[in-house]
Amino acid sequence: MAKLVVCDHPLIQHKLTFIRDMRTNTKDFRELVDEVATLMAYEITRDIPLESIKVQTPVAEAESKVISGRMLGLIPILRAGLGMLDGVLKLLPAAKVGHVGLFRDPQTLQPVEYYIKLPTDVQERELIVIDPMLATGGSAIAAIDALKKRGCTQIKMMNLIAAPEGIKAVQEAHPDVDIYVAAVDECLNDHGYIIPGLGDAGDRLYGTK
Ligand code: PRP
Ligand code: URA
Repeated sequence: MAKLVVCDHPLIQHKLTFIRDMRTNTKDFRELVDEVATLMAYEITRDIPLESIKVQTPVAEAESKVISGRMLGLIPILRAGLGMLDGVLKLLPAAKVGHVGLFRDPQTLQPVEYYIKLPTDVQERELIVIDPMLATGGSAIAAIDALKKRGCTQIKMMNLIAAPEGIKAVQEAHPDVDIYVAAVDECLNDHGYIIPGLGDAGDRLYGTK
């Protein structure tokens, strides 16, 4: 079974409180989500492999480490995943970006795919699927299915807030995918919203309703 990592760094937890707060306006919400995404990117890349190379300092030769292994790909799930993309790119500016467009049908709660555009070498990359919310898990599972169908094998998932139901569903469907979250909340309500959660992430990021 893959890992579930709760990114409990105090800075992440502090900012998440204000992300949850319904009094936080669109501008501040967007900035806070961006900041937490950067901090989570630090945690999610903690185990990427390194190799030693030699460099010449002004005074001597040094053996020093650089990142090795597969190149990275970031896969935001539209629309709300875009709110975390720039924050992750701040730490991983060379990553390529693939977009998966999904929305959740409000009646059935099933994901509906409407767009997909991936880097041509996506199968060779280590991928991070990005979405602020993991509720029923349907959207995450559909996005990962779409990536695996195209030959991708190394996939991690990154969410701000997850419901236990969504974590279980993703772990059952994709036991090879590590999940990184800032918080695991209590449950889902009858409309599939995470309780206490933060409301509708896309609406809060973009000021829609
Ligand atoms: C939200 C969220 C996830 C999905 C989570 O997107 O950003 O993609 O719901 O729910 P699930 O785990 O039950 O699938 P939404 O469908 O509201 O679309 P949006 O990002 O375009 O607002
Ligand atoms: N999508 C959201 O934006 N929020 C939730 O709580 C659940 C799904």
